[in-house]
Amino acid sequence: YPIFAQQNYESPREATGRIVCANCHLAKKPIDIEVPQSVLPNTVFEAVVKIPYDMQIKQVLANGKKGGFNVGAVLIMPEGFELAPNDRIPNLLKEKIGNLSFQNYRPDQKNILVVGPVPGKKYSEIVFPIISPNPVINKQAHYLKYPIYVGGNRGRGQIYPDGSKSNNTIYNASATGNIKKVFRKEKGGYEITIERSSDGRQIVDIIPPGPELIVSESEFVKIDQPLTNNPNVGGFGQAEAEIVLQDPSRVQGLLLLFASVIIAQVFLVLKKKQFERVQLAEMNF
Ligand code: HEM
Repeated sequence: YPIFAQQNYESPREATGRIVCANCHLAKKPIDIEVPQSVLPNTVFEAVVKIPYDMQIKQVLANGKKGGFNVGAVLIMPEGFELAPNDRIPNLLKEKIGNLSFQNYRPDQKNILVVGPVPGKKYSEIVFPIISPNPVINKQAHYLKYPIYVGGNRGRGQIYPDGSKSNNTIYNASATGNIKKVFRKEKGGYEITIERSSDGRQIVDIIPPGPELIVSESEFVKIDQPLTNNPNVGGFGQAEAEIVLQDPSRVQGLLLLFASVIIAQVFLVLKKKQFERVQLAEMNF
């Protein structure tokens, strides 16, 4: 969950560029982001994050049963960009956003937003309403090209913040030896007793309900050999985009330049016509 990232990591993006969700959501699946190529200052625009997945597929839930996916995302914007205030969001955009509620990653970091978990069926496309800064008021903002980073996830993670495994991951043998006993627990899940080859001690591996067993009694297993399949069908992905904070006076300047070029061209043609008339007048036959 995004809250796990907020509680455990000061910044959601590591120095290597990796977004921290990947530390617990181990499978990689693609995501996509769409933002305008450029925005004017103090303007509301939308950043669309797409987290596609096959809606027919079900995943293992915490109780071992199968169910649908939830999705979530973290959006890392340049300093000064933040969630658009409600009264600035046009109605059409409000409809696209739906009932999503966005949070700041930290109370003082308004440029980093998180959302989720929310049902994937409805929100496999998440629309963030963003407002651009105004460099005239906000001295930290400049008219530049900026990167925007995003991480998006569908499906349950593999590791809890305390380091323990979730039931949505692969379980491995913790010793080399023969499997003495496979005990199927009443509420689902297994207890697998391995007799360690080196000293004959019995080691018990506990498997929660969810993953499917791929070994059987009296089989020989090596340490770290998988005892179960990998039930994880979800995945996390990250992407980036670029956005230009555009100075309106630059656009005006460009238009002015265009106008002056057109006028200069017209005058050149007029001059040519005038010169041709002089040439005609001076001609002697
Ligand atoms: C579950 C997103 C970071 C561990 C989820 C779910 C979402 C999500 C959407 C629900 C999936 C479902 O129900 O289908 C994210 C995002 C993160 C993030 C966007 C980064 C901003 C983390 C971190 C950890 C973690 C850092 C580990 C410390 C888990 C676990 C679950 C989970 C164990 C399953 C919980 C359960 O059902 O018991 N995450 N997550 N996540 N996440 Fe994350």
